[in-house]
Amino acid sequence: MLVHKISEVKDAVNKWRGEGLKIGLVPTMGALHAGHASLIKKAVETCDKVIVSVFVNPIQFCPGEDYNEYPRTLDKDVELAESIGADLIFAPTPDEMYGAGQRLSNDTLAYVVPPFFYVNKLCGKSRVGHFDGVCTVVAKLFNITGADYAFFGQKDAQQLVIIKKFVKDLNFPIEIVSCPIVREESGLALSSRNKYLTEDGKKDALVLSKILFNIKACYEKGITDVSALKETAFSYLTDKHDMEYLEFVDKNDLEDKTTADNDTLVLIACRVEGVRLIDNILLA
Ligand code: PAF
Repeated sequence: MLVHKISEVKDAVNKWRGEGLKIGLVPTMGALHAGHASLIKKAVETCDKVIVSVFVNPIQFCPGEDYNEYPRTLDKDVELAESIGADLIFAPTPDEMYGAGQRLSNDTLAYVVPPFFYVNKLCGKSRVGHFDGVCTVVAKLFNITGADYAFFGQKDAQQLVIIKKFVKDLNFPIEIVSCPIVREESGLALSSRNKYLTEDGKKDALVLSKILFNIKACYEKGITDVSALKETAFSYLTDKHDMEYLEFVDKNDLEDKTTADNDTLVLIACRVEGVRLIDNILLA
């Protein structure tokens, strides 16, 4: 069932709670693809009732980013989520989420602010304020739904670490479940933003996964020096690739690594046809 109001979610949740049911939440910004489908499937397997939120969250977009262009495909999203077994699709408007007339700025709106060490690197470096917006909306969704479990994709690895951190630090009574990256057969990690790419762009975008797969293969052959592993990326890059970062960090606390080990997460961000793409791989 599709609902747009917070009160409608709360009514459903109160009823389910009364029946002692376990509730799962899959937060999304819509434009659902097979990656989201895998999260919903996992939620359906784990929980008695599943809520999928579909909300393009204005406060996590930085000035000049694609908030207005972000694909909005609600009818298809509802169809897909329900076909997998979601019980409720919550698609609020910004006014419903933040209050009509509320200025969306942290001088008048309370935010959940994740620790500087976790956000001042990787995507947070170029997307200043992005993770404040993510944590704020995710905290609101946790409170609105009172879910027992929330499901997030490993594709947004920095987001996942930061959400786990604020949930632990602020004692949110919810379990975070991380789900593996879903890839096209070509290796390209699924993303709603792949829709912006042409067919040629999609081929050029394969460089992200190729670099990561090759780094993992080199690590498995015994190369652990991060500078040497980073070097291996250059042969893949052409003038079609505008690399933002390739970083090696600890999978739990995002501490930089100089020597790779089984806890190392390798993350990449690169623009192809002006589209900012991210991907990552765990070396273990
Ligand atoms: O990963 C996303 O799609 C978004 O950042 C999230 C978690 C739904 C918050 O808007």
